Amino acid sequence: MVRFQRPPGPLNIWKVVDGFEVLEDGTKKPVKFSIQEIPYTFERKQEVIDLMCNHYLDDEAIAKCLKFKEDADAINDFKTMWNYAMNYNIAVGCYKLDTDGKIGELVGANIVYIVTDETEKDLAKFKAGFKSKNFLKMWELMELLLKKCDVKKIYNVDKYMGSICLCVNSAYRGQKLGYYMLDARKEIGKKYGCLATSTVFSVPTSQKQAARAGFEEGFTIEYKDVVDDKGNPIFPNIESTCAKQMIRRLD
Ligand SMILES: CC(C)(COP(=O)(O)OP(=O)(O)OC[C@H]1O[C@@H](n2cnc3c(N)ncnc32)[C@H](O)[C@@H]1OP(=O)(O)O)[C@@H](O)C(=O)NCCC(=O)NCCS
Repeated sequence: MVRFQRPPGPLNIWKVVDGFEVLEDGTKKPVKFSIQEIPYTFERKQEVIDLMCNHYLDDEAIAKCLKFKEDADAINDFKTMWNYAMNYNIAVGCYKLDTDGKIGELVGANIVYIVTDETEKDLAKFKAGFKSKNFLKMWELMELLLKKCDVKKIYNVDKYMGSICLCVNSAYRGQKLGYYMLDARKEIGKKYGCLATSTVFSVPTSQKQAARAGFEEGFTIEYKDVVDDKGNPIFPNIESTCAKQMIRRLD
């Protein structure tokens, strides 16, 4: 099946939610957040990459365990995949809204894209070019989990929505913004005719928000059971118990 192409049209706003920002004196100021498509400008896409570099690579359990922040090759491999997935032009952003209703700072993102046979061929090509051994370890774990529970077979579909990285700026966590971004997949699926989604969630916080957004467990693996040929753990001392591949129908 050919690669998905977003039909032309204005950016979709999936939901506007009430939340807050914490001011310097510790008080909370009410703000509205727009859960919506990321504008297709270089600057707005770069803002996503900056968010991922500053808040995903610092805080996500596998990234911390394999020290991606100190691995220039891993950062480049990530950037390659973030840019590839963002080029589907359906990635979800969570933007603070100004008082005049215009989008301001990006506080969260989930780089969703539609996976068809052609996408899988693209991913195989990218994989052959990854430079970081540690990035490859993470990638192969994701591949293993996605293969263990084949969402296309389970839901009898020829494409599904996947994603590369879910992240909320640490100053804005604790308001379920992760959940709202995952929940938007129902609307995205309806809009673009994609009836299923499958994603690997690596930590308890994202697994909790995914369950809240209606995802069910497809396949779970404990990090302690992921070992190399000699039986050594691939993710030593990781601050998470298990990775879960989770799926849901979107109709
Ligand atoms: C995952 C992430 C996007 C979720 O952001 P969020 O929607 O603001 O959610 P929170 O981080 O506040 O945590 C979600 C829930 O998990 C709970 N939680 C925190 N630590 C937990 C733990 N060890 N076990 C179980 N639940 C936990 C929180 O209490 C919260 O519950 P609540 O929503 O009922 O209050 C955000 O934590 C993040 O960006 N993390 C760094 C990057 C990352 O790990 N991404 C996920 C990769 S799959």
